[in-house]
Amino acid sequence: MLPHDIPLPPPYRIKVVEPIPFLSPQERREAITAAGYNPFNLRSDQITVDLLSDSGTGATSSAQEAAAALGDESYAGARSWFRFRDEAAELTGYPHLLPVHQGRAGERILFSSLLRPGQICLSNTHFDTTHANVVLAGAEARDLPCAEAADLDSTEPFKGNIDVTALEQTLAGPDGPRVGLVLMTITNNGLGGQPVSMANLEAVAALCSRYGVPFFLDAARFAENAWLVRQKEAGYQEWSPRQIATRAFQLADGCLISLKKDGLTAIGGLIGLRDDDLFVRCETNLIATEGFSTYGGLAGHDLERLGQGLREVVDPMYLAARAEQTARFARMINDAGVDTIQPAGIHALYLNAGRLLPHLSPAEFPGHSLGCQLYLDGGIRCAELGSLYLGTLDAGSQLISPAPFELVRLAIPRRVYTEEHFVYVAAVLARIAKDPERIRGYRIVSAPAQLRHFKVRLEPLA
Ligand code: F0G
Repeated sequence: MLPHDIPLPPPYRIKVVEPIPFLSPQERREAITAAGYNPFNLRSDQITVDLLSDSGTGATSSAQEAAAALGDESYAGARSWFRFRDEAAELTGYPHLLPVHQGRAGERILFSSLLRPGQICLSNTHFDTTHANVVLAGAEARDLPCAEAADLDSTEPFKGNIDVTALEQTLAGPDGPRVGLVLMTITNNGLGGQPVSMANLEAVAALCSRYGVPFFLDAARFAENAWLVRQKEAGYQEWSPRQIATRAFQLADGCLISLKKDGLTAIGGLIGLRDDDLFVRCETNLIATEGFSTYGGLAGHDLERLGQGLREVVDPMYLAARAEQTARFARMINDAGVDTIQPAGIHALYLNAGRLLPHLSPAEFPGHSLGCQLYLDGGIRCAELGSLYLGTLDAGSQLISPAPFELVRLAIPRRVYTEEHFVYVAAVLARIAKDPERIRGYRIVSAPAQLRHFKVRLEPLA
């Protein structure tokens, strides 16, 4: 079924298209200046290729749109909920499922129902909203990534893993009694979109059971993680992606899923639980803040698209083609002289801007400079993951401690762009890489105290 020596085309053809704008260099310069050099302030009709996020940005299928027409918008007990619930129950195996409008709503509901102030949540890496919601619940979010993750060039297959030794030491040490949750992010979006191995999840499950700590998955990219396990982990080559995903859910006590990624929809999320008491607490919170337990802030037509999306996303042909598309994109970029975190994951590529622009110090925000240049030269939007996002600033917005790496994330929406779009992006990057010294740094003009990257404004250095 899957040819090995011929590049795999996507297992779909395009029926509905959306025009994308091409602005002149002058128009792009005006747009980014008016946006305070913050890509979050750009309008989508100013962007040619939008690689800001793979969240809620995918294309739906004709089968999803046909299902959406059957959406049942009843306030309670809608048919669409039961269709989605049955699909999600079969995939995850959890006896209790609660729909939410997106991942972070699930985070807020779970953490405020489960974590007590002063407790600790341990993770391979918390995503930023996940981190924020742990802190809002009065707890501490602590990351324990494996050592291999710190070497951006290492081609180790499972750099998304948690450091099992550090996890055991924490659980057995003086902070052990304060650990209220272990949350594994699959794939590890905060650290290069790297996968987590089943062996790592099994080790975490065993430790959590020994120390009596709840173990949850942040499974936004559960199907992509399953695909990488099938490709790379011994013993899984005969498993279907769906079987691998189900096994991962089985190892945990519950899950949070932002279905805006591997749900193949614009909106949606899910909480999965085994514990009856925790379910009652979460459900009360859900009804008070998101909606009744059979819709959770979603419309019936969203639930229908989700039920169908969960079936489509574990199709091996779809996953193989998507993984190959990302791998080819990575090779084009690397051939153009720009390094990316190795090995390529599936949902995004992470450009090593620090290495490309060594003439810029972290305080001049090289990742941000590269991101702005991609917009100025090609109308391409992406996200900085460097000192602008993760560094520590003083009261005057001067950088006092940099991020460990200066990265730019090119997120890849699902089923949206064709090979030619990636050739275009790689060509724009190649031009930048030919003459990187012309790229200037930036300084902050104004920055909010919280969630800086969304509202910060900057200007280029002279
Ligand atoms: N967990 C992970 C691993 C995520 O990547 C995200 C969102 C969330 C939770 C929150 O889900 O957006 O539905 O509320 N990631 C997006 C991104 C925003 O661009 O990586 P949400």
